[in-house]
Amino acid sequence: MHTKIEGGGNISKDNKIKITKDGPYIVKNAIPLMKMKIVVNSEGDGIDWKIGKKYPLQKNIALCRCGESRNKPYCDGTHEKIDFDGTETADKSPYLDLALVYDGPTLKLTDVEEICAASRFCAPEGGTWELTERSDDPKARKLAIQQTANCPSGRLAIWENETGEEIEPELKPSLGLVEDPHKNASGPICVRGKVPIESADGFTYEIRNRVTLCRCGKSSNKPFCDASHLD
Ligand code: SF4
Ligand code: FES
Repeated sequence: MHTKIEGGGNISKDNKIKITKDGPYIVKNAIPLMKMKIVVNSEGDGIDWKIGKKYPLQKNIALCRCGESRNKPYCDGTHEKIDFDGTETADKSPYLDLALVYDGPTLKLTDVEEICAASRFCAPEGGTWELTERSDDPKARKLAIQQTANCPSGRLAIWENETGEEIEPELKPSLGLVEDPHKNASGPICVRGKVPIESADGFTYEIRNRVTLCRCGKSSNKPFCDASHLD
């Protein structure tokens, strides 16, 4: 079920998302931007991604992160009028320093709950944790790997016990504006493909293949999504 995101950009040393103080995300070097819809099963849990509208490729863009622009997804300056507080409060430690570890017979799952974007790809078929516990069954193992690859926030990562290597799809740089029609909500910006993200004060967060950035302005774990868009 894992969807390969089409139209990803090139990995380049110039790709970057720069967070501005109490203002937008400045996206540098023409990273493809598109809508990404969560496709759900009868329980409302995520089972696949559907790519929607693709935006014209532009060299540098400013994406709203206060949630109030009238020209979304782009910034229109409203953050100044509303006195947006975009203070970055996320823990800057590397993912693995924060992760809980779940051991299974062939796989290991790591989990940092604070960055969950509530897209529910980890819920079907007993859930990724249980599937990892049953990873000596090839079907359960395959599903655990697929669900983890679909987790947009990078809360979940999965590892091969035999080699200790992370199992991670190759993703080209792209930005997905998450839409969650089942919850009637717009979600975060899904950043794929190891795009560096630099804080307003010049710190480069750990570079990861999948992360979700808040774009409603309400996260308590800025710049990352904490699912507050569903509140
Ligand atoms: S962001 Fe990842 S861990 Fe959170 S609900 Fe979605 S799939 Fe599960
Ligand atoms: S960040 Fe500028 S309008 Fe939202």
